[in-house]
Formats: sequence, C-alpha cells, structure tokens
Amino acid sequence: MSNRPALPPEIARRRTFAIISHPDAGKTTLTEKFLLFGGAIQMAGQVRAKGEARRTRSDFMKLEQDRGISVSASAMSFEYGTYRYNLVDTPGHSDFSEDTYRTLTAVDAAIMVIDGAKGVESQTRKLFEVCRLRDLPILTFCNKMDRESRETFEIIDEIQENLAIDVAPASWPIGVGREFLGCYDMLHDRLELMDRADRNKVAESIKISGLDDPKLAEHVPADLLEKLREEVEMARELLPTFDRQSFLEGHMTPIWFGSAINSFGVKELMDGIGEFGPEPEVFHTAERDVAPEEKKVAGFVFKVQANMDPKHRDRVAFVRLVSGHFERGQKLFHVRSKKPMAVSNPVLFLAADRELAEEAWGGDIIGIPNHGQLRIGDALTEGETLRFTGIPSFAPELLQSVRATDPMKGKHLEKALMQFAEEGAAKVFKPAIGSGFIVGVVGALQFDVLASRIELEYGIPVRFEPSQFTSARWVQGDKVAVEKLVNANKQHISYDHDGDIVFLTRLQWDIDRVVRDYEGVTLSATKEMM
Ligand code: G4P
Repeated sequence: MSNRPALPPEIARRRTFAIISHPDAGKTTLTEKFLLFGGAIQMAGQVRAKGEARRTRSDFMKLEQDRGISVSASAMSFEYGTYRYNLVDTPGHSDFSEDTYRTLTAVDAAIMVIDGAKGVESQTRKLFEVCRLRDLPILTFCNKMDRESRETFEIIDEIQENLAIDVAPASWPIGVGREFLGCYDMLHDRLELMDRADRNKVAESIKISGLDDPKLAEHVPADLLEKLREEVEMARELLPTFDRQSFLEGHMTPIWFGSAINSFGVKELMDGIGEFGPEPEVFHTAERDVAPEEKKVAGFVFKVQANMDPKHRDRVAFVRLVSGHFERGQKLFHVRSKKPMAVSNPVLFLAADRELAEEAWGGDIIGIPNHGQLRIGDALTEGETLRFTGIPSFAPELLQSVRATDPMKGKHLEKALMQFAEEGAAKVFKPAIGSGFIVGVVGALQFDVLASRIELEYGIPVRFEPSQFTSARWVQGDKVAVEKLVNANKQHISYDHDGDIVFLTRLQWDIDRVVRDYEGVTLSATKEMM
C-alpha cells in the first residue's frame, strides 16, 4: 500500500465495501443507518418500507419475505464527510453463498457485524473465510450492546480464536444492556454517549484527555467508570493496538461496539472506514495488474440481476470500475464479444432509487441495463483485452432435472434457464442424451426461488424432479483424451450455458474412475467466469 503512488483525489476518497453477517445480527439496520447519515434516505424505516413495497410486487419477493432472507444483492452509494461510500449488499442466507462470494470479489473491504450476545455464528465464519481468501481488510461491528451481551473480553477472545485474526478495540463499551451508556473511543480519546430518547440521533461526543480526565465522572457513574478504567487498562496491556498496515493486509480487525438500532457507534464505524480505508485496490487480470489510477477505464461484471424493475423487464449488470474516469455515453470495449458498447444509461444506486450516473471513478459500482449481452465475469475496457481473474463459478452441490408442466413450453423454458444461468442464479446443463435440462445449485432454497421466478417472469410453471446425479465437474484437458471420454460416457456428459463440457457424477467413484482411466483429462470443481 505504502509503495503505491498517491491516487487522484476522486479515487482516493472512494470506499467500496460489503457487510457480512449471520442473519439477524443487524445488517439491514446498520445499512439503513449508513444511508440515513449518508443523506441517501430521509428517515429510518425507509429501506424496509421500500423493501415491503417491493416484496408485495411478486410472489418471488413474497418468498423472500416469508423466509426472512434477502435473496438479491444490490449496491448503494452515498456521501458522508469527505468520502464517497459504495456499499454492496450480500445475501446473508448460506444457500446464496455463491452470489455472496462473487460480490466479495468486487469490494475492497468488509464490515463484519456480530450480535454481542451471540458472538461468531456459523454464517459469520463462512463469510469471513471468503474474505480471508482475498485478504480483504475487515472492520468489525459488535451490535446490540443495548441488550444483554457477553463480556467484552470474551467477545474479542472468541473472534481472535475462532477466526484467527488479531482484534484491536477501536472503542470500549461502558455498561451493557439496560446500563449501556455508550463507548470510550480508544483511538481518539472521546466519550460517545448514546441517546436513548431518539433512535436516529447521533451520539453526543465529548472530547476528554484520557481516562484520568475528571470530566469523565460528570457523565459516567462511579461503578461503571471504575470498571471502564480497569478494562481499558487491561485491554491496552493484553490486546494489540490498532495497526493500519496489519488491518490493510487482512491480519487485524478493529472492533467498534454499538447499537445500530439506536444509531450508536455507526458514525464512528463510518469514520473508521473513511480514515483507515482501504482506497480502491489493484485488481488482477490474466494479462496484468490493473491499478485504479490508470487513465483508461476498466471494470468487470460481478453480478447480473434480472427484472429489478418489472416495468422495464431489463437486466442490470453490476460493474465494479477498477480504473479510470468513466463518463456517461462513453463507448467501452466488451472484451468477450470483442464489440464496442455505448454505455448511455448507466445507473448509480442511491438507496432504493436509481439515478443516472453522469460519471464514475475507479472504485465505483455502476449498473448497466442491457438485454443479456453482459454476463458475470465480463470485462469492459477502452480497447485492451483484459480478463479479470478470481471470479469463479462453483460446481453445484445439488442437482435436479426440470421440466415445464406444459410440454409445449419446452423451448421457452430453455430460454428462461439460459438467462438464469447467465445471471449466475443456477447452473444449467443440457445432457448429451435425451431431452430436458438438469439444474444445479449450491443451496436447496435456490430451487424454490427459481421455480417461482420462472413462473413469474416467464409464465412457465415448472416441476423440479430428483436427478440421478449429485454433482458436476468441468472437463478440461487434452483434446483427444476429452473426446475419448465424451464418446465413451455419453450418459454422464452434458453442456453448460457456455457450451463447455460438464461431466455429471453420481459418486466420488465416477470422478476417481475418470482420473484413473483418462490420462490428460482434468475434472474441475470451479470454472473461471470470463
Ligand atoms: P439482518 O439484516 O442482519 O438480518 O438483521 P436486521 O437488521 O433485520 O435486525 C434483526 C433484528 O435485530 C431486528 O429486529 C432489528 O430491529 C434488531 N436490531 C438491530 N440492531 C439492533 C440493536 O442495536 N439493538 C437491538 N436491541 N436490536 C437490534 P426484528 O424484531 O427482527 O425486526 P423489527 O421488527 O425490529 O424490524
């Protein structure tokens, strides 16, 4: 980081991040408060209210509501202080982990929200591991301190031990549950006091000159003050102090304590992302590394979302701009098709409303409405052939065959399935023998969502049925060997939506057999999407 040249100010002030958490820890509430303080919404409750309105639009959304999960990820931008924040939402439910994984390839940092009473939960751990694969810097927010929570040291220990990361307290809670008063800001020597009367009010901040400042006693009752002094002293002795470099390398996480619902600790967390970063990062391509300060625009699609607006029936490709200064109307080079593409109506996502983006900089996320030309992994540049790496497609863990209940609709079903495959919502395999399709997903809930969306968006009722296959592998390798495998194992062979050869398996034994019998062939559980 320190060896990198200074970025143009517009890029240097961008902060692009995602929030990861176990469902119910408070991600939605925290997002809402970010948007509130960022001026993107006028009052709390708006995101949820908009969410409700959106949900009632379709059964698919109703499904989302019934299950209490957020199925689709979206991006939101807002200004706060001198920074421009780009927040990319991730689905919390594990059945949509692939979507989350790809979203995390498009951000520079993540906020990990944990519930102060529950600590590190299963989904927190899984998402954390994904962040670690990329060494993403992580900021931790310990939420719900207004409720009975665990001891502060216990929470910190749990994170350190469970996630093998150093934890540096950025703030220290004073009291807990009903007694929770606020926090001592360990980085700036300030006292932040929570306002219980107004949930949307930012805490009162009192500058003090350390823990011996007599001013403290004016605000904190004696018993809590004594405990605070003791604990902070211990923390300073036993816990690491915040080290920005270590944080940027993904080895250390600063932790703030707060209560999102009471808007407490949220501002400090936002300031933390602004102050400590990271700035937009360098991204890798098969050809070379792309740095944000490069003059030319380059970016990649990390998510495609269909039918965000039922009136338009369009698809929006979410693009992470990696470098340059993009202006509306600019012609970009679509690397996969080798064709130019005029981006005349890019959108920025300001809370729940879309707004036309007149310009965007390296670090930003823009949405490009299109009719299916843009797929996950696609690169857009000013002419250079670049293939961004690290955007994988995973082998599905569950397979089912699908058919239209009305056999006349078979052709339409194919079109619908291909579109979902391109959107990354499922894997679709066309078997070499026979008719019909096999759909593969990572989590069972995805089948329900698909069935519901195919019916709603394409008017085709479908039935999913058990398949004899349990997993799939992409076939690569020596041409002659691959041909031999295909010809001798037609009942296992299928083609994905890109036309790539896929070997459908029933047991691990099937895979072992291929490896043993077909030298020069590799079976892969992931495929780079580019
Ligand atoms: P999620 O997106 O991570 O799933 O969590 P969400 O924000 O929806 O919050 C889950 C529940 O926790 C919500 O309650 C929310 O109000 C509550 N919550 C969030 N932050 C805090 C906090 O700081 N303190 C306390 N005490 N509760 C908090 P709910 O009853 O499920 O929903 P609602 O009826 O409040 O909307």
